[in-house]
Amino acid sequence: MHNSEAIVFKALADDTRLRILRLLSLEELNVWELGSILDLPQPTISRHLAILRSHSLVIDRRDGNRVFYRVGELRPPFDKFAEYLESLPNHEPTDLIRLEECLARRAVGSRRFADDKAAEWDELAKSFQRQPLQLFAMAGLLGRKELTLADLGTGTGLLLPFLAASAGQVYAVDQSVAMLRRARQRCARNQIDNVHFIHSRLEKLSGRLPPCDGMLLHFVLHQVARPAGLLRALGKELKPGGRLVIADRIKHDDQAISEKYGSLWHGFECEQLESWLKPGGLRMVEWRLLPGSENHQDQLPGFVLIAEKTELQSSIA
Ligand SMILES: C[S@@+](CC[C@H](N)C(=O)[O-])C[C@H]1O[C@@H](n2cnc3c(N)ncnc32)[C@H](O)[C@@H]1O
Repeated sequence: MHNSEAIVFKALADDTRLRILRLLSLEELNVWELGSILDLPQPTISRHLAILRSHSLVIDRRDGNRVFYRVGELRPPFDKFAEYLESLPNHEPTDLIRLEECLARRAVGSRRFADDKAAEWDELAKSFQRQPLQLFAMAGLLGRKELTLADLGTGTGLLLPFLAASAGQVYAVDQSVAMLRRARQRCARNQIDNVHFIHSRLEKLSGRLPPCDGMLLHFVLHQVARPAGLLRALGKELKPGGRLVIADRIKHDDQAISEKYGSLWHGFECEQLESWLKPGGLRMVEWRLLPGSENHQDQLPGFVLIAEKTELQSSIA
């Protein structure tokens, strides 16, 4: 036997250290938790952990001001040791009962937080980057790399990072050079290389886009001079089965909002849009209303409309 192995065996030859290792083979724990389970003072636990750590039998991880320990990547012949410890159900059974109690106490903390904060949660959630996280999470779930998408009226490209994460290729179109410059800068900052920029009016796009699986008009239609004509033209650029998604404001009579956002139109109604979709071979498959916000006067009720181009209608020229 190697001398180094003998030293490790010596480190293991202690009942408390074996109990610590067994607990850590089941769960990552901090010194305070180990002390409460083993009913030992923290300095004693720390001393044992230091010995185990010096032989790489445990490794640690800092989380804020706490340090959590777990069993290390053990090399032979110690690699089977954690398994061996787990297979000792009758060894110090109270340790396992107390481990469960300790983990239950952790869970109580987070449940109490949830109970206490339910009423404030929506406000609290605004304080971290919740919306980008949500969107990237959706992109991960729903995205398909073979998709070709178009962000029509991309503006400063606010949505491009999420679209680029959801698709193989994204075409970002806008009539404004100033907006497109910012959209390009955003993509460069985010190291996005699958977005292609097109400086054009949407009405003049014919033939400049590849057949698209999806097109997005996100807060754009209210600025378009001839919305009915545009929807008709866009339908022809979509692949059969492709989708056009429109997000905008519901019809309203707030002149100040329309001026502030450069709107030609005071929002839209479902029936009006549905009738504009048909000539382009598009069929509305979903209409979702989003309520406005009482706290934010700019947030009037909005909608998301999803239209699909059917196989049959795709033959309409
Ligand atoms: C309110 S911004 C929205 C930008 C982006 N979609 C978003 O949600 O952040 C509308 C954008 O659409 C563009 N736009 C409006 N009408 C257009 C048209 N007919 N052709 C090309 N771009 C247009 C404007 O230049 C502007 O950048």
